[in-house]
Amino acid sequence: MVPKSANEIFLSYSPANMLGFIDVFRRHSPPSLSSGPLAKDHTQDHGLKTVPHCQPCLLGTQSRHFFATHRPAMTTRALFPTLLYEADLADEALLADLAHSIRTLALDDTAGRRWSRDHGYKGYTSYASLDDLPRRDPAFADLAKLLVKHAAIFATDLAFDLAAKPKLDSLWVNLLKSGGQHSGHIHPHSILSGTLYVEVPANAGAIRFEDPRLASQMAAPARRADAPDDRRAFVTVAPRPGQLLLWESYLRHEVLPGTAKAERLSISFNFA
Ligand SMILES: [Fe+2]
Repeated sequence: MVPKSANEIFLSYSPANMLGFIDVFRRHSPPSLSSGPLAKDHTQDHGLKTVPHCQPCLLGTQSRHFFATHRPAMTTRALFPTLLYEADLADEALLADLAHSIRTLALDDTAGRRWSRDHGYKGYTSYASLDDLPRRDPAFADLAKLLVKHAAIFATDLAFDLAAKPKLDSLWVNLLKSGGQHSGHIHPHSILSGTLYVEVPANAGAIRFEDPRLASQMAAPARRADAPDDRRAFVTVAPRPGQLLLWESYLRHEVLPGTAKAERLSISFNFA
Protein backbone atom coordinates (compact mmCIF):
# COMPACT_ATOMS: atom_id res chain seq x y z
CA MET A 1 0.00 0.00 0.00
CA VAL A 2 1.34 3.46 -0.88
CA PRO A 3 1.42 5.93 2.04
CA LYS A 4 -0.46 9.19 1.48
CA SER A 5 1.98 11.74 2.80
CA ALA A 6 5.67 12.23 3.42
CA ASN A 7 5.03 12.56 7.14
CA GLU A 8 3.30 9.25 7.09
CA ILE A 9 6.36 7.74 5.44
CA PHE A 10 8.63 9.35 7.99
CA LEU A 11 6.62 7.98 10.86
CA SER A 12 6.44 4.53 9.40
CA TYR A 13 9.75 4.32 7.61
CA SER A 14 11.08 0.97 6.62
CA PRO A 15 12.98 -0.21 3.55
CA ALA A 16 9.79 -1.74 2.29
CA ASN A 17 7.92 1.54 2.04
CA MET A 18 10.78 3.53 0.48
CA LEU A 19 9.10 3.20 -2.89
CA GLY A 20 6.06 4.81 -1.35
CA PHE A 21 8.08 7.84 -0.38
CA ILE A 22 9.44 8.11 -3.89
CA ASP A 23 5.97 7.94 -5.29
CA VAL A 24 4.70 10.69 -2.98
CA PHE A 25 7.62 12.93 -3.85
CA ARG A 26 7.12 12.46 -7.56
CA ARG A 27 3.42 13.20 -7.31
CA HIS A 28 4.06 16.35 -5.28
CA SER A 29 6.83 17.75 -7.48
CA PRO A 30 6.02 19.48 -10.77
CA PRO A 31 7.65 17.51 -13.58
CA SER A 32 9.25 20.65 -14.97
CA LEU A 33 11.03 21.20 -11.69
CA SER A 34 12.21 17.67 -11.18
CA SER A 35 15.14 18.15 -13.51
CA GLY A 36 16.04 21.64 -12.27
CA PRO A 37 19.40 22.81 -10.93
CA LEU A 38 19.37 20.94 -7.65
CA ALA A 39 22.41 20.27 -5.49
CA LYS A 40 24.33 18.03 -7.80
CA ASP A 41 26.21 15.79 -5.38
CA HIS A 42 23.01 14.52 -3.91
CA THR A 43 20.40 14.90 -6.56
CA GLN A 44 22.03 14.05 -9.85
CA ASP A 45 21.96 10.41 -8.99
CA HIS A 46 18.77 10.86 -7.07
CA GLY A 47 16.78 11.35 -10.24
CA LEU A 48 13.59 10.90 -8.27
CA LYS A 49 13.64 7.36 -9.52
CA THR A 50 15.82 5.55 -7.06
CA VAL A 51 16.73 6.69 -3.55
CA PRO A 52 18.79 3.82 -2.29
CA HIS A 53 20.56 5.45 0.64
CA CYS A 54 19.15 8.90 1.22
CA GLN A 55 18.70 8.88 4.93
CA PRO A 56 18.42 12.72 5.21
CA CYS A 57 15.37 12.70 2.96
CA LEU A 58 13.61 10.60 5.50
CA LEU A 59 13.54 13.62 7.79
CA GLY A 60 10.59 14.78 5.75
CA THR A 61 9.74 17.35 3.13
CA GLN A 62 10.10 20.33 5.50
CA SER A 63 13.66 19.55 6.55
CA ARG A 64 16.63 21.78 5.73
CA HIS A 65 18.12 18.91 3.79
CA PHE A 66 15.02 18.61 1.66
CA PHE A 67 15.02 22.30 0.67
CA ALA A 68 18.77 22.22 0.01
CA THR A 69 18.48 19.37 -2.42
CA HIS A 70 14.97 19.45 -3.88
CA ARG A 71 12.40 21.97 -5.02
CA PRO A 72 9.25 21.55 -2.99
CA ALA A 73 5.93 21.05 -4.72
CA MET A 74 4.78 24.56 -5.55
CA THR A 75 3.49 26.80 -8.30
CA THR A 76 3.47 30.51 -9.10
CA ARG A 77 0.89 32.35 -11.15
CA ALA A 78 0.84 35.73 -12.86
CA LEU A 79 -1.40 38.40 -11.36
CA PHE A 80 -2.24 41.70 -13.07
CA PRO A 81 -0.40 40.97 -16.32
CA THR A 82 0.31 43.77 -18.79
CA LEU A 83 -0.66 42.65 -22.28
CA LEU A 84 0.92 43.91 -25.50
CA TYR A 85 -1.01 43.12 -28.67
CA GLU A 86 1.11 42.57 -31.78
CA ALA A 87 -0.01 42.01 -35.36
CA ASP A 88 1.27 42.53 -38.87
CA LEU A 89 -0.64 44.52 -41.45
CA ALA A 90 0.82 42.76 -44.44
CA ASP A 91 -0.73 45.17 -46.94
CA GLU A 92 2.07 46.79 -48.90
CA ALA A 93 -0.31 48.93 -50.96
CA LEU A 94 -2.02 50.36 -47.88
CA LEU A 95 1.33 51.07 -46.23
CA ALA A 96 2.53 52.87 -49.36
CA ASP A 97 -0.65 54.96 -49.47
CA LEU A 98 -0.29 55.83 -45.79
CA ALA A 99 3.35 56.81 -46.24
CA HIS A 100 2.39 59.10 -49.11
CA SER A 101 -0.41 60.65 -47.05
CA ILE A 102 1.86 61.24 -44.05
CA ARG A 103 4.45 63.02 -46.16
CA THR A 104 1.75 65.09 -47.85
CA LEU A 105 0.40 66.17 -44.48
CA ALA A 106 3.90 67.01 -43.29
CA LEU A 107 4.14 69.44 -46.20
CA ASP A 108 0.62 70.89 -46.14
CA ASP A 109 -0.36 71.04 -42.45
CA THR A 110 1.18 74.35 -41.46
CA ALA A 111 -0.53 74.36 -38.06
CA GLY A 112 0.94 70.94 -37.31
CA ARG A 113 4.35 71.98 -38.52
CA ARG A 114 4.23 75.02 -36.26
CA TRP A 115 3.10 72.98 -33.26
CA SER A 116 5.87 70.45 -33.87
CA ARG A 117 8.47 73.19 -34.08
CA ASP A 118 7.19 75.00 -30.99
CA HIS A 119 7.16 71.81 -28.92
CA GLY A 120 10.57 70.56 -29.95
CA TYR A 121 9.21 67.64 -31.96
CA LYS A 122 11.95 66.66 -34.37
CA GLY A 123 9.85 66.17 -37.46
CA TYR A 124 6.10 66.51 -37.85
CA THR A 125 3.02 65.24 -36.04
CA SER A 126 -0.63 65.96 -36.68
CA TYR A 127 -1.40 65.22 -33.02
CA ALA A 128 -2.46 68.75 -32.13
CA SER A 129 -3.70 70.03 -35.48
CA LEU A 130 -5.93 67.47 -37.26
CA ASP A 131 -8.64 65.26 -35.77
CA ASP A 132 -10.41 64.07 -38.91
CA LEU A 133 -7.87 62.03 -40.85
CA PRO A 134 -10.20 59.04 -41.56
CA ARG A 135 -12.73 61.45 -43.10
CA ARG A 136 -10.10 63.41 -44.93
CA ASP A 137 -8.23 60.57 -46.63
CA PRO A 138 -9.42 57.10 -47.80
CA ALA A 139 -6.15 55.48 -46.74
CA PHE A 140 -6.79 56.49 -43.13
CA ALA A 141 -10.42 55.38 -43.46
CA ASP A 142 -9.26 51.92 -44.56
CA LEU A 143 -6.80 51.80 -41.70
CA ALA A 144 -9.45 52.86 -39.20
CA LYS A 145 -11.64 49.89 -40.17
CA LEU A 146 -8.75 47.51 -39.58
CA LEU A 147 -7.86 49.08 -36.27
CA VAL A 148 -11.42 48.70 -35.00
CA LYS A 149 -11.25 44.96 -35.69
CA HIS A 150 -7.90 44.55 -33.97
CA ALA A 151 -9.03 46.60 -30.98
CA ALA A 152 -12.11 44.40 -30.62
CA ILE A 153 -9.94 41.27 -30.52
CA PHE A 154 -7.62 42.82 -27.96
CA ALA A 155 -10.54 43.95 -25.81
CA THR A 156 -11.75 40.36 -25.78
CA ASP A 157 -8.31 39.11 -24.76
CA LEU A 158 -8.32 41.65 -21.95
CA ALA A 159 -11.75 40.42 -20.80
CA PHE A 160 -13.16 43.94 -21.09
CA ASP A 161 -16.84 43.94 -20.18
CA LEU A 162 -18.08 46.52 -22.68
CA ALA A 163 -21.54 47.29 -23.99
CA ALA A 164 -20.05 47.99 -27.44
CA LYS A 165 -16.76 47.53 -29.25
CA PRO A 166 -14.01 50.03 -28.43
CA LYS A 167 -14.50 53.19 -30.45
CA LEU A 168 -11.68 54.84 -32.37
CA ASP A 169 -11.40 58.18 -30.65
CA SER A 170 -8.36 59.80 -32.23
CA LEU A 171 -5.70 59.06 -34.81
CA TRP A 172 -2.64 61.05 -35.75
CA VAL A 173 0.52 60.64 -37.77
CA ASN A 174 4.16 60.96 -36.75
CA LEU A 175 7.11 61.71 -39.00
CA LEU A 176 10.26 61.52 -36.94
CA LYS A 177 13.51 62.74 -38.40
CA SER A 178 16.95 61.43 -37.57
CA GLY A 179 17.60 61.54 -33.83
CA GLY A 180 13.97 62.32 -33.02
CA GLN A 181 12.41 60.89 -29.90
CA HIS A 182 9.34 61.16 -27.74
CA SER A 183 9.72 61.15 -23.96
CA GLY A 184 7.77 58.89 -21.62
CA HIS A 185 4.01 59.41 -21.48
CA ILE A 186 0.62 57.74 -21.15
CA HIS A 187 -2.56 58.36 -23.15
CA PRO A 188 -5.12 59.70 -20.64
CA HIS A 189 -8.89 59.26 -21.00
CA SER A 190 -8.60 56.29 -23.34
CA ILE A 191 -8.87 52.56 -22.82
CA LEU A 192 -6.63 51.28 -25.64
CA SER A 193 -3.81 52.97 -27.51
CA GLY A 194 -1.40 51.84 -30.14
CA THR A 195 0.80 52.52 -33.11
CA LEU A 196 1.06 51.24 -36.65
CA TYR A 197 4.58 51.45 -38.04
CA VAL A 198 4.51 52.52 -41.69
CA GLU A 199 8.17 53.08 -42.54
CA VAL A 200 10.94 52.06 -40.15
CA PRO A 201 14.48 52.40 -41.46
CA ALA A 202 17.23 50.30 -39.94
CA ASN A 203 18.36 51.67 -36.55
CA ALA A 204 15.28 53.86 -36.21
CA GLY A 205 14.07 54.60 -32.70
CA ALA A 206 12.49 51.76 -30.76
CA ILE A 207 9.52 52.01 -28.43
CA ARG A 208 10.13 51.25 -24.77
CA PHE A 209 7.40 50.23 -22.35
CA GLU A 210 7.63 50.66 -18.60
CA ASP A 211 6.25 48.45 -15.84
CA PRO A 212 3.19 50.40 -14.63
CA ARG A 213 3.94 49.31 -11.06
CA LEU A 214 7.40 50.85 -11.14
CA ALA A 215 6.52 53.88 -9.02
CA SER A 216 5.51 51.68 -6.10
CA GLN A 217 8.46 49.30 -6.31
CA MET A 218 10.61 51.10 -3.79
CA ALA A 219 12.82 48.16 -2.81
CA ALA A 220 12.42 45.77 -5.71
CA PRO A 221 15.73 44.19 -6.78
CA ALA A 222 17.00 44.58 -10.32
CA ARG A 223 16.20 41.65 -12.57
CA ARG A 224 18.76 39.25 -14.00
CA ALA A 225 20.10 39.97 -17.46
CA ASP A 226 18.34 36.87 -18.77
CA ALA A 227 14.97 37.73 -17.20
CA PRO A 228 12.06 37.21 -19.57
CA ASP A 229 10.03 40.21 -20.76
CA ASP A 230 7.27 39.69 -18.22
CA ARG A 231 9.75 40.02 -15.33
CA ARG A 232 11.46 43.20 -16.56
CA ALA A 233 10.89 46.81 -15.54
CA PHE A 234 11.35 47.99 -19.14
CA VAL A 235 10.67 46.21 -22.42
CA THR A 236 11.92 47.62 -25.70
CA VAL A 237 10.40 46.73 -29.04
CA ALA A 238 12.27 47.56 -32.24
CA PRO A 239 9.37 47.99 -34.65
CA ARG A 240 9.22 46.85 -38.24
CA PRO A 241 7.15 48.19 -41.14
CA GLY A 242 3.57 46.98 -41.00
CA GLN A 243 3.76 46.08 -37.32
CA LEU A 244 0.77 47.01 -35.23
CA LEU A 245 1.06 47.36 -31.47
CA LEU A 246 -1.81 47.86 -29.05
CA TRP A 247 -1.69 48.31 -25.29
CA GLU A 248 -3.86 49.59 -22.49
CA SER A 249 -3.68 53.37 -22.43
CA TYR A 250 -2.30 53.59 -18.89
CA LEU A 251 0.91 51.91 -20.01
CA ARG A 252 3.73 54.42 -20.01
CA HIS A 253 5.99 54.34 -23.07
CA GLU A 254 8.55 56.39 -24.95
CA VAL A 255 10.21 56.49 -28.33
CA LEU A 256 13.96 56.20 -27.99
CA PRO A 257 16.25 58.20 -30.27
CA GLY A 258 17.52 56.22 -33.22
CA THR A 259 20.51 56.71 -35.44
CA ALA A 260 18.79 56.18 -38.78
CA LYS A 261 19.13 58.99 -41.28
CA ALA A 262 15.83 58.24 -43.03
CA GLU A 263 12.42 59.27 -41.70
CA ARG A 264 10.47 57.03 -39.35
CA LEU A 265 6.75 57.07 -40.16
CA SER A 266 4.07 55.86 -37.79
CA ILE A 267 0.40 56.35 -36.99
CA SER A 268 -0.81 56.45 -33.41
CA PHE A 269 -4.37 56.23 -32.11
CA ASN A 270 -6.61 55.97 -29.08
CA PHE A 271 -9.73 53.97 -28.42
CA ALA A 272 -12.32 55.04 -25.89
FE1 LIG B 1 2.27 57.39 -27.12
